[in-house]
Amino acid sequence: MSISQQTSLYRVDQQDKTLVIACHQKASPELVYFGDALPKETSLESVYLSQQAGIPQAMLDQPAAMSLIPEAGRGWLQSPAVEAQALDRPVWAMRWQQVRVDQQSQDLFIALEDPIAQLALTLQIGLLPSGVLHQQVTLTNLGSAHVQVQRLACTLPVSVELTERISFYGRWCQEFQQAREPWQSTWLQENRNGRNGHANFPGVIVGQAGFTEQQGQVLGMHLAWSGNHRLKADYSIEGHRYLQAEALYLPGEIVLEANESLTSPPMLVSHSACGANHMSQAFHREARARLQLVKPRPVHLNTWEAFYFDHDMTKLKELASAAADVGVERYILDDGWFKGRNDDHAALGDWFVDEAKYPDGLMPLIRHVKALGMEFGLWFEPEMVNPDSDLYRAQPEWALQLPQYSACLGRNQLVLNLAIPEAYAYLRERLFDLFKAYPIDYVKWDMNRDYSQPSGAIAPQAHAQVLALYRLLAEINQAFPNMEIESCSSGGARVDFGILNFTKRFWASDCNDALERQSIQRGFSYFFPPEVMGSHIGPDKSHTTSRVHDVAFRSGTAMLGHLGIEWNLLEANTQQKATIANWIKQYKRTRDCLHQGNNWRLPSADGHAQTQWALSQDGQQGVAVYSQLAMPKQAQTLPIRLPGLIPEQNYQVTVLEHSPLPGHLMKAKPAWWDTELHLNGASLMQIGVQLPILDPESIVLLEIKAVPSSEKNT
Ligand code: GLA
Repeated sequence: MSISQQTSLYRVDQQDKTLVIACHQKASPELVYFGDALPKETSLESVYLSQQAGIPQAMLDQPAAMSLIPEAGRGWLQSPAVEAQALDRPVWAMRWQQVRVDQQSQDLFIALEDPIAQLALTLQIGLLPSGVLHQQVTLTNLGSAHVQVQRLACTLPVSVELTERISFYGRWCQEFQQAREPWQSTWLQENRNGRNGHANFPGVIVGQAGFTEQQGQVLGMHLAWSGNHRLKADYSIEGHRYLQAEALYLPGEIVLEANESLTSPPMLVSHSACGANHMSQAFHREARARLQLVKPRPVHLNTWEAFYFDHDMTKLKELASAAADVGVERYILDDGWFKGRNDDHAALGDWFVDEAKYPDGLMPLIRHVKALGMEFGLWFEPEMVNPDSDLYRAQPEWALQLPQYSACLGRNQLVLNLAIPEAYAYLRERLFDLFKAYPIDYVKWDMNRDYSQPSGAIAPQAHAQVLALYRLLAEINQAFPNMEIESCSSGGARVDFGILNFTKRFWASDCNDALERQSIQRGFSYFFPPEVMGSHIGPDKSHTTSRVHDVAFRSGTAMLGHLGIEWNLLEANTQQKATIANWIKQYKRTRDCLHQGNNWRLPSADGHAQTQWALSQDGQQGVAVYSQLAMPKQAQTLPIRLPGLIPEQNYQVTVLEHSPLPGHLMKAKPAWWDTELHLNGASLMQIGVQLPILDPESIVLLEIKAVPSSEKNT
């Protein structure tokens, strides 16, 4: 039996993945396969036929297909791809017909139309060079009357074997926490915060029951969007399982006039047949392709937790000198530098240097920083306005709020409505003036509140706000191509691939407590590589949790990302500064491997320790950071095993840095600790290395380097 002539099969290959799509002349397309590469000779027709299921009793006579564009009009009884309404024709129960399919390189553009609904839809779906699947839908109003759109979603059917789910939750200072649950019912995440918010990272992971970092089928799904969203992991009674992702539109927010179009944000999906690490590595490749970093990630110093709003030129310069002494390469002046900004009650919007704190402008500080060989960065929160600001007093109507109701403030501030051209132009001019007046290498772009009334005079504007933000960031990048932008949002409340198109770093959390950071950073690492994750060495006593950690644990934890310092080094003693300087030296030595190599999460069997393992693409250099998070459950540690090495290659294992080993739990160190250890890749992967028995909240940094096989261990 062969398949109908009305169906054409398309195949796309990339990295180690294959994607197969069935396009139908009289219906919307179906996913036939997405997973590990199929042999070139595979008969797609046979694969397609083998997937045609029987028709169950007691259901619709022709059950709706589990399509990439689920159609209510054909009997799909769950959330469809499109929901809309119009007054002159039915547009809520479409039946799509194919108009054409274009294959451009690794992407398919599938054009559909419904002549009754007078709507057109194009699905773009394909594989990116990273191996990540991406898809996006565009809806166009072909009628003459307007259409209100409630939903435009990307849908991806997944294997019925994937019955476990990890979603992410969190709050300020505790982002990217994992909730692992059986996937046996509908999972829905609705974000109405305007930004993603701390609680609603736009991503989810599904996998085979019991999947681990190194085993099992796993799919990670992400919506590349920095605003309101809806994510769904659902299943149907027929047995289909699927993921759905969309921008969430508030009532009346999206109206398409004749010939107007709306495009959804991209859905990104990464597949692995061997655990979550492999899934993450594809997302990391994808992030790296977008980042296009041209130099190693410089060591930061950020002034926030050192001085907060208390800007004193002498102290700021002394801090810069102390930072340069320990090896800092970029100095970032945080909040408090602009007119009237003495606390968080006033001045957002008034982007002029405060003459009371900086009578000669910022140049004296910048000159000092640059003379020390460091780059200079500056903090902004451009999308905001305080009611107590000259800007608000002059233009109260530029704030995103419903004038008919009293405003809901967040951190004493309102959001500037960037969809108002004059407000956009004012902000653009203020930023451009400052970027031209000062040699600014780096901008920390903050965004510190949820939108509560994201409105113009009547209709909601949350969607338009995100698009205007993206436009502004694109214009800045174009005009100042050498300036890097960091996305911060009270820590990690706006971390996603949408804003990553315009930014080079995320501030993952305001929490600099190294222990909390370990779990925050671990959650972050499922979707993003270490070099985009800002991670700072905070003060002895954490400002957000009051926990105390030694410098080694704080430094080693900061090494897991893009390392910086956020501590008043003028209060650090000589020993502490020497320890930081040593860790910074090791960070500089190993950052190419950490930031360009493949990264693995390797949890210990008792769950009380974790190792981040990075291996250069050529397998010649590896860096392992072993963190003892809690009291080890057994008296002796278990060996750490390091995947990905070349089996027959000989490697030298070197301890680069470690926490003090006070001997509370250990009489004698492992035999190899103070000698040189050489092992081949197979031994490191399959047998592993013993580490000392560590106190809780301590850390070890190891380097594994390829050496010629003649340099054998004796
Ligand atoms: C937010 C950021 C912090 C800091 C302050 C400044 O909370 O997350 O890092 O920049 O704003 O007001």
